[in-house]
Formats: sequence, structure tokens, C-alpha cells
Amino acid sequence: MRKTIIAANWKMHLNTHQASLFLHKLDQKVAAHRDVITVLCPNMLALQSLSLQINHRKFKLGAQNCFWRDEGPFTGEVSATMLHGVVQYVIVGHSERRHGFGETDADVRQKVQAVIRNRMVPIICVGETAGERANGETKDVLHGQVTAALANVTSDEIDQIVIAYEPVWAIGSGQSASPNDALDAISFIRGQIKALYGAAAAEAIHILYGGSVDNHNATGYLGSKGIDGLLVGGASLKANVFSSIVEQAHAKHDKKSVK
Ligand code: 13P
Repeated sequence: MRKTIIAANWKMHLNTHQASLFLHKLDQKVAAHRDVITVLCPNMLALQSLSLQINHRKFKLGAQNCFWRDEGPFTGEVSATMLHGVVQYVIVGHSERRHGFGETDADVRQKVQAVIRNRMVPIICVGETAGERANGETKDVLHGQVTAALANVTSDEIDQIVIAYEPVWAIGSGQSASPNDALDAISFIRGQIKALYGAAAAEAIHILYGGSVDNHNATGYLGSKGIDGLLVGGASLKANVFSSIVEQAHAKHDKKSVK
């Protein structure tokens, strides 16, 4: 049975000192569970010091982005090669990067490759805008983004990736997708993985939901067999709220496994 992944995307919040204090708080509140993988994604600058401080049995670390070339004249960028050994996960293609920084499907594809090449797990974000949803284009958008991101991923590599369905309109808006809508989109993506890589790959891959998740609505997603976890933004910056989401993931995982 697939483990549940609860990933915290701190975005551009918490400087290195604040991140360290917050990790200390989280460490007191979050328990280690074998069936839940808890991934913390702080800013780039905080990664190195948190990697020394973190309880690796309890938490994994993730970067929020990377560049796809290993090294070279790319001022301001951090490569996947440089992240190797510090983080285990890298968020790729978050909508804030696609829409705020002009990241294209081609960039996402290169970054996915770079992360896999450097033996980390990409968390590939896909999702439609409000306009695309209103036009009935959700599945076309998901299909296009998933196809592009996985274009060079082989069947040997497919079990090393995570996909997060994050509808753009749900991010930071307080307007989360209903568990049914999230499951519908995630099932569509799983179907696409099946068509591309076969039934075993579709069964093994982790597909998460993200977008205005908090401790009140988390349980609706976590109770669904097809939804393998959550990518949490704002609510991951509150220790009580985030630890409650992790505990709910653990409780729901137990229930799912006895069903
Ligand atoms: P919010 O949980 O703040 O809506 O952000 C979701 C997100 O973008 C996680 O990557």
C-alpha cells in the first residue's frame, strides 16, 4: 500500500533563523509514523542548516525549485546537483513558478530530468486556472502538463516521482477543491500514468492534492483511497495545524489499510 505524503511548502516565508525555530517546534509536535512521509520545503538558504538540525527519521527535506543545468554561468540559480545530499525531494513546476516566473512545460521537463538524474524525487505540480476550469479545459490542461513533464521519464524512473494536483484557483484562496473534484482530477492523472507506463506504475505512483488545505478539510482528502497525501502551503506555517494534518494522515492511513 502506498504511504501517505504530507509536504509543507513554506514558500518565501521564514528566514533561516525562523525556520530553525519553527522546525524545533514541529519536532516537538509531530510524531514519526512509518506510513506517513513528512516533507518540509523551506527556502533555499535555510536548507543546509535545517539538514543538519532535522530529525531524519521524522522529516524529509525538499527544495521548492531548482535549475536543470548541473553548473555554469546561470547567475542566481541553484542546480539539482547542488541540492543532492541536502534534500530528498524537489518541487517542480509549482504554479507560482509557471505563472509568476514564466516557467514553461519545457523547463518543467528539464527540471524533472535533472532531479531524477541527481537521485532525488521531483514533486511535479500540475493544475488548471479558474478560467481553464470555467471553459471545461481541466483535463486537457492536466493531460498536457503531465505529458510534457514526463516526456523523458522512463518506466524505470516513473516510481521515483510524485505528482501534486494543485488547481491554481485553489492556491492561497481559501477555496479548496472538494475531495470529489480532487479525486476526479487525480484519477484522471492516474489513468494517464496507466496508459503511458502500465497498471503497476499507476498503482505505485503517489499523487497528492494541494490548494487551501488546512486541519479542518484535510480529512476529506486523506480518507480517499486515490489521494496519496497533501501539499500544504499556508497551513504548514502553523505548527499545531500542520502537526494535526500529519496525525490525521496517520489515522486515515490505518483505516485505509484495513478496508
Ligand atoms: P495553500 O495551501 O496556501 O493554498 O498553498 C498550496 C500550495 O501552493 C502548496 O504548494
